[in-house]
Order: sequence, then structure tokens, then C-alpha cells
Amino acid sequence: VLRAPEATTRVAALIGDPVAHSVSPAMHNAAFDALGVDWVYTAFRVAPGDAAAAVAAVRALGLAGLSVTMPHKRAVALAVDSLGAVAGRLGVANTVAWSRARPGELVGESTDGPGFLEALHDEGFSVEGRNVVVLGSGGAARAVTDAASEAGAGSVTVVGRDPARSASCAALGGSVAKSLVADDEAALEEALKAGDLVVNATSVGMSDPHLVPMDLPSGWFRSGQLVMDLIYHPATTQLMRVAEAGGASAVNGLSMLVHQARRQVECWTGLIPPVEVMRDAAEAAISRRNSETM
Ligand SMILES: NC(=O)c1ccc[n+]([C@@H]2O[C@H](COP(=O)([O-])OP(=O)(O)OC[C@H]3O[C@@H](n4cnc5c(N)ncnc54)[C@H](OP(=O)(O)O)[C@@H]3O)[C@@H](O)[C@H]2O)c1
Repeated sequence: VLRAPEATTRVAALIGDPVAHSVSPAMHNAAFDALGVDWVYTAFRVAPGDAAAAVAAVRALGLAGLSVTMPHKRAVALAVDSLGAVAGRLGVANTVAWSRARPGELVGESTDGPGFLEALHDEGFSVEGRNVVVLGSGGAARAVTDAASEAGAGSVTVVGRDPARSASCAALGGSVAKSLVADDEAALEEALKAGDLVVNATSVGMSDPHLVPMDLPSGWFRSGQLVMDLIYHPATTQLMRVAEAGGASAVNGLSMLVHQARRQVECWTGLIPPVEVMRDAAEAAISRRNSETM
């Protein structure tokens, strides 16, 4: 239970559309409580096209920072004063914070890629020199491709439905990255079998829990391979089941969610909150959401 906000309480918030089912308020408020800071986190539904107005509201209201989700990541990157290194490469921001070096300036950053690498670290997996296969070519795929290549992956293969979007995603990975289209079955089989890490960055398996992205069969997975599904709800996706049936290890996207959120708290407060507290809060919020929808 949160303490009541007072006149001096700092306010951070999520902007997006929709935001009603977000677990971010639970995670961030748990982090602020654990840190013992007088901060509170809420969510604002901001209509498409209103992201720049929301960034102006940060200035006008003196908000402490923003998390940014769909459909505003690109528009927010254009509305802030400057971008951090990752957000600059990706051209999108999931975080808005006040600059420490330049008071009064708002900085956009992207914490998804660093959160992804930290989630892998939790699994004892380093991408350095390894073959990474990224399923999908949207925003999450772009963050993962950038992070994996920056962290020294041996190869990054982006598998998408749309050749132009997949190539644009792979371009973020530089010389180690290439793209292929999902309906090139032979190339997909070869890439998957050679993959040390397979990342599902499509939304397939979330609202249709029985679906596997690109209909990948279990025979294309193998032991010694890690599969990370960025989906965290359901906690076990059909892709994870299929990958495990083929001998691979599989994890969902909850750790990445928690780590990207932890980095946001660090951007805003300069303090590092305990990851376990945030993970517990996220899990509790997801199970509350499940019981509400049952
Ligand atoms: N764990 C975390 O912290 C975290 C962070 C970010 C995102 N995510 C998750 O990652 C997923 C993607 O998010 P996003 O922001 O990247 O969304 P997005 O930008 O909308 O991208 C979605 C991707 O899924 C692909 N896709 C959709 N339906 C497909 C199908 N039937 N077959 C093959 N590909 C299909 C799209 O392909 P096209 O490009 O061809 O349309 C696109 O590449 C979501 O499930 C999201 O919840 C998790």
C-alpha cells in the first residue's frame, strides 16, 4: 500500500495508449518504496499524436520522469532536448529523464536493450561471439539487434515477414547482422539450428497463447541453445514449450521487463533499486490481472 503523496512528492509516470493493464506502476512504486524515496508513479493514457504535448507537460508540471510505451516512443525521441547513446542509435525513447549534466534539459533514453542483456546475464548467458536469431523486426527486435551487436555477438540474424523492415532492423547490427524473410524455410531452419540464442520479439503467442511464431517445429531447436521469449504474459508461451521439447532452455521476458524498469529508476533518481522487489511486484500485478480477467 502506497503512502499518500504530499505537496513535495516527486511524480513519475507512464504514457501510452493503452496503459490500463500495465504492470509498470506496481514495479516502480515498489522500487520507490524499497529505496525509501518520496516518489510516486502513475500512468496516463495519452492519445496518438499527443506525445509532444505530454513531454511539454513534464516541463510545465515539473514531473520527475516518464516511461514511454506504444505508440509514443518515436514522437517522444523527437520532443526531448537530447538523446542518450542507445536512444540515439534507435531513434526511439522509452524513458524521459532530466539531464544531470545540463539542468533543465530533458533526455530520452532506451532501456530495453540494456535490460535484455541484463536478463541474459541472469541466465549466465553472454552474447559475445555467439549466434543470435531475432524473430520479428518491430521496436523490440530493433532494441535487441542493437544490444546484441553492441555486446559483441558473432552474428545476428533478423527474421521478419517484411523484407524492408527486416533489413532496416538488421542494419542496426552493422556487419555482423543480416536479415531473412520468414517464408524462406530452408534459410530459417539453417539459421535456427545454428543459433545459440533465439529471441522472440514478435507479439505471436501473447493473445493467441497456442501459436508459435513462424510455426517453428521443435526439431529445429537443440540442447545448449537458449530461447528468450520477450512475452511475459502468459509466463510460459507455446514457443517456450516447443523449444524445450527440442532440448533448448527457455525463459520468458519478465526479467527484461524488470531490468529495463530498474534502469529507468536509476535514470530518474540516480539510485539503483533492488531487482527482486520489482520482480515480485511485477509477478503480483500479473497474477492480479489474471484473476480480474477470469
Ligand atoms: N519483456 C520486455 O521487457 C519487452 C519489451 C518490449 C517488447 N516486449 C514484447 O515484445 C513483443 C514485440 O513488441 P514490439 O514493441 O516490438 O511490437 P511491434 O513493434 O508492434 O513489433 C511486433 C513484431 O511482431 C511481428 N509479428 C506480428 N504478428 C506476427 C505474425 N503473425 N507472424 C510473424 N511476425 C509477426 C511484426 O511483424 P511485421 O513487422 O511484419 O508487422 C513485428 O515485427 C511484444 O510481445 C511485447 O510485449 C517485451
